[in-house]
Amino acid sequence: MLLHIPQVLAPQEVAAMRQALDQADWTDGRETVGAQGAQVKRNEQLPDASPLREQLGQRILAALDRNPLYFAAALPLRVVPPRFNRYQGGGEYGFHIDGSVMLTRTPDHRAQPIRSDVSCTLFLCEPDEYDGGELIISDTYGEHEVKLPAGDMVLYPSSSLHKVQPVTRGARLASFFWVQSMIRDDACRRLLFEMDTSLETLRATGADNAALVRLTGIYHNLLRRWAET
Ligand code: NI
Repeated sequence: MLLHIPQVLAPQEVAAMRQALDQADWTDGRETVGAQGAQVKRNEQLPDASPLREQLGQRILAALDRNPLYFAAALPLRVVPPRFNRYQGGGEYGFHIDGSVMLTRTPDHRAQPIRSDVSCTLFLCEPDEYDGGELIISDTYGEHEVKLPAGDMVLYPSSSLHKVQPVTRGARLASFFWVQSMIRDDACRRLLFEMDTSLETLRATGADNAALVRLTGIYHNLLRRWAET
């Protein structure tokens, strides 16, 4: 499932982040990929150890905590701390599939592997600030082109082949991260999401309450059946 989540960050939050990122020390994005990815990756990233990356990443996670659409779609169990990248001067990232298991550290420094089920890209520039830079996601239905307003996010299965088109004017700043979902299977996660959003619509339109209680119970019983925690 490919889902557009609008306004994860408010315009003033994006502006503050942009200001900090403009003064940041960027490094070659190839430092965080294997040999295969390094052949097609030409961008810059904030180093993983950067205090700014940590601080801005926390702000994004806090914003997501307030976002019911993100929760319903991702059903997050663990999240890789958000990273930040910049494409400019023809920078691009050719077709690839992201790593399946990311090694992270818990706050008390224990190693924690996180399986990437859901990929997220949060756009930090307006589409008219740069040329190119579309995120192209390829799945069984074809190729989808994504270029969103600043503050908006796209969520898609980490198993998808994807690329970022060359940025030929201006710069494209974004944050990206991976989620290990309570629901590993994308099709099951999508069914739960569609049921959850349909329940919301029924509630908002004053549907029969006894039926709603039973259907909500079915949602939770499916989640109980499928969830890994
Ligand atoms: Ni990728």
